[in-house]
Amino acid sequence: MSVNKLILGDNLEILRGLESETVDLIYLDPPFFSNRNYEVIWGDEGEVRSFQDRWAGGIDHYIAWLKERVVEMHRVLKQTGSMFLHCDWHADAYIRVLILDKIFGHNNFRNEIIWSYKTTLKVSNHHLGRDHDNIFVYAKSKDFKIFPDPKDYPPSGNTLKRWSKYADENGFVSNKHFAGSASTIINTEDESKGFNINHGVPRDVWEIAHLAGNNPEKIGYPTQKPYALMERIVKMASNEGDIILDPFMGGGTTIAVADKLNRQWIGIDQSVQAVKVTELRLQQQTDLFTSVYANSYTLQLHKYDYDTLFNQDPFEFETWIIGQFGGTARGKRGGDKGIDGNASDGAPIQVKQQESVGVNVVKNFSVSAEQHDSILFEKNLKAGKPVGYIIAFSFNKGAVQETARLKNEKNIVIRLVNVSEIIPISKKPKIEVKIAELSREPDGYREIEFIAKGDSNAGIEFYSWDFDYDESKGFKSAVIRDVDGKQQRKLKAGTYHIAIKAVDNDGLESVETIKLKVNGGVEITN
Ligand SMILES: C[S@@+](CC[C@H](N)C(=O)[O-])C[C@H]1O[C@@H](n2cnc3c(N)ncnc32)[C@H](O)[C@@H]1O
Repeated sequence: MSVNKLILGDNLEILRGLESETVDLIYLDPPFFSNRNYEVIWGDEGEVRSFQDRWAGGIDHYIAWLKERVVEMHRVLKQTGSMFLHCDWHADAYIRVLILDKIFGHNNFRNEIIWSYKTTLKVSNHHLGRDHDNIFVYAKSKDFKIFPDPKDYPPSGNTLKRWSKYADENGFVSNKHFAGSASTIINTEDESKGFNINHGVPRDVWEIAHLAGNNPEKIGYPTQKPYALMERIVKMASNEGDIILDPFMGGGTTIAVADKLNRQWIGIDQSVQAVKVTELRLQQQTDLFTSVYANSYTLQLHKYDYDTLFNQDPFEFETWIIGQFGGTARGKRGGDKGIDGNASDGAPIQVKQQESVGVNVVKNFSVSAEQHDSILFEKNLKAGKPVGYIIAFSFNKGAVQETARLKNEKNIVIRLVNVSEIIPISKKPKIEVKIAELSREPDGYREIEFIAKGDSNAGIEFYSWDFDYDESKGFKSAVIRDVDGKQQRKLKAGTYHIAIKAVDNDGLESVETIKLKVNGGVEITN
């Protein structure tokens, strides 16, 4: 199965295309129902009734929607695999009883993790403050591999206080001080040595702070989960090289963690923004790890970028487009005598990675097709079926007329196929960047506003900024998701290389780079 893939699409459809029993760990954080916003503030009867009214048929619908997806997730999990389903009070009980127990079986329930995120809550008269989410852990079978490591669980403050005076520089408390009772609260790493005060006991209540507004980890979309949360899950339920699937990927926290911890991964989301934000995040973090590893990945969008295909290595393009057409590529470079593969009906295919393919190509192909397999050629000719296919970005009038002539005069049918009939293609957005000097500070700093303007038929989704662009490292966003395309920076005298990316609704992107000189004035020098 191909992995390290970011896939745009409805996860139901994508999951159905994944092989059975191939995935080691699934984490899913599905949206709550259809993003209807309501808040139960008082929890009184009237309110609950109105809430039920608004949900008329709703929770059933939600459960059915999620259930058919979980069926597929269960199918793709290995026997040793496990699934972590993240939800909250809205639907946790329904999900556990109506989906998880039914599909995984009650016996395979492993635990419920309480993620206690501790926000500052507005607690109303009748309410206890709500500050946790629920993560249900189910295994596919009794052969599951979920091994929490005590090192990933910090001890409580009290434990530290009580024992730190006895601990050596590595945090070990020797047997001498090791009271029996301590073993129940602190995990013993090595009996002969005692225990390590820096390690806690893996428990199912996890206190990990919510991403607050000023947290540098925060990208700027709702429902982003903390890195630390995902790190625990990934570490305890997978090993290096294992395959992790997140079918509701969002901004890709799971994927970023999986990649960093050297797992393989598949991320699915139906939002193009989610897919692109995840990609930018992966690119951003490879910086820290470039020398260790930089996993390559593939991106599956709904549209293909014209320029990329047009300029792709011809052999790779041929092979790929024939596959997309449902045919079989010849699979060898060079010496093709004009035949690059066969269509599903067996007839030969020629691929031209060109625009305005002309009359001569059609004429020559007709000859090549006959030479390639004269029996098949005759058979198709008699049956009035295509004797072959030419695939190209476009054909000129001469080529079209030649196919008509061949058909009329010799009953030879050659089908001209535009690449855009096989796969949806689109053009990258255009992008323009302007700067404006907002103010000069007495200390020589200048405040500069950068304004990016993208142009795309599909519509621009967001911009991404790299204020310290280094071509050799590639694009590393300082700001991953900027919906308005405006950034302000205070810059001192010097030269700056800045890259700006515009991402459109098809997920296609363009980058513009500017060199900026801040001196007596501010000017763009490229
Ligand atoms: C709660 S968010 C996930 C957040 C993620 N855990 C993170 O840390 O960024 C849920 C995501 O599921 C996606 N989604 C909803 N329905 C989907 C579907 N049928 N197929 C694929 N993705 C879907 C939404 O676009 C959204 O990005």
